[in-house]
Amino acid sequence: MRETSPVRYDSDRDTWDVFRYEDVYRVLSDHTTFSSNRNAIQNREDSASLIGMDPPQHTKFRNIVNRAFTPKRVADLAPRIEEITHELLDEAAGKGAIDLIEAFAGPLPVIVIAEILGIPREDRHLFKEWSDKLVESPDVQQADAYQASMMEKARVAQELGAYFKKQLDARRVNPGDDLLTVLLDAEVEGERLNEGQLLSFCLLLLVAGNETTTNLITNAVRAFTEQPELQTQLRKNPDLIPGAVEEALRYYSPVAAIPSRFATTDVELGGQMIKKGDQVVAWVASANRDEDKFPDADRFIVNRNPNAHLAFGWGIHFCLGAPLARLEGQIALQAIIERLPNIKLQADTELQPVTSTLVYAVKALPI
Ligand code: HEM
Repeated sequence: MRETSPVRYDSDRDTWDVFRYEDVYRVLSDHTTFSSNRNAIQNREDSASLIGMDPPQHTKFRNIVNRAFTPKRVADLAPRIEEITHELLDEAAGKGAIDLIEAFAGPLPVIVIAEILGIPREDRHLFKEWSDKLVESPDVQQADAYQASMMEKARVAQELGAYFKKQLDARRVNPGDDLLTVLLDAEVEGERLNEGQLLSFCLLLLVAGNETTTNLITNAVRAFTEQPELQTQLRKNPDLIPGAVEEALRYYSPVAAIPSRFATTDVELGGQMIKKGDQVVAWVASANRDEDKFPDADRFIVNRNPNAHLAFGWGIHFCLGAPLARLEGQIALQAIIERLPNIKLQADTELQPVTSTLVYAVKALPI
């Protein structure tokens, strides 16, 4: 596609697909021309969710939530993430064969975010169930199943909203040392988040942060099974782990496409005329394999430098959780490489891709 139709209109989906690095970069960087807020095009209300906002609303909201994700707050989490990582690997040890997602890569980010938010330990299992349901990828070909899954998601979002509301009310009376309390208190220019914004942000953290981090870890280990020499290289030289995380993000990008940009004006892109109001999908996974940007793009090179991948997006919506995802990815891969001496796919395994086109992932990684 990058060579033959780098910017292409798909009449079935009524969207433009953008495949080259240069064009994806432009769509993500130019938020004035490519809005994240569907409603803005129709002069309707602001978005309730950070990811769908444009400036100035986005700038204000992001400045508030940035307070909760400072580099120091994230760095301070390292010892606790290490502990959780080793607890999960201890449980998996001795089993011999495991599904990496079920035993490790699925629970890790959910436990971490639950602890950051200050969710009581006894509610963690509920939290994981809710989080899984929210990001479930129903089969779009099966209309009934799709409809049922969307209704279930709406029900779960409501249940989770009510749960967060209770937790927030408790923090108002008894502030804690957790993210919910920081979010309640954070203010910019005298403004705080209202209740609706707080709840939609909590939901966004789960939807944006859990499955993506699970897939980062799983995709990296998948690459290690496909190219065992990477395991040897990383065992010999653990300093290469942060580079391996970046390369995994580029090579098997967990978010394959960023689906929601809307042209605010008629604009030319890659030789095509995109009309005001048209939807544009930025194919990050394709941009990250663009040979014009990455020499030997189809090779996993642990010490690739520079590695300006777009796996966390770019511009004003650049992933808020990127420092946390990187930290979790580094700690997880370091522990896996140290503790699992020879990682192989189980015999006769055929990997099943997750059906969503927006996510690059497998349903299970039996190792
Ligand atoms: C935004 C990817 C982990 C929270 C984004 C965007 C991408 C992305 C591509 C940009 C979306 C856009 O431009 O419309 C990823 C990947 C992750 C990851 C690949 C893991 C490997 C996390 C984590 C959290 C998080 C752990 C939080 C705990 C967010 C939020 C936004 C966002 C809140 C919206 C930022 C904004 O609109 O200003 N992420 N993410 N993400 N991500 Fe992540």
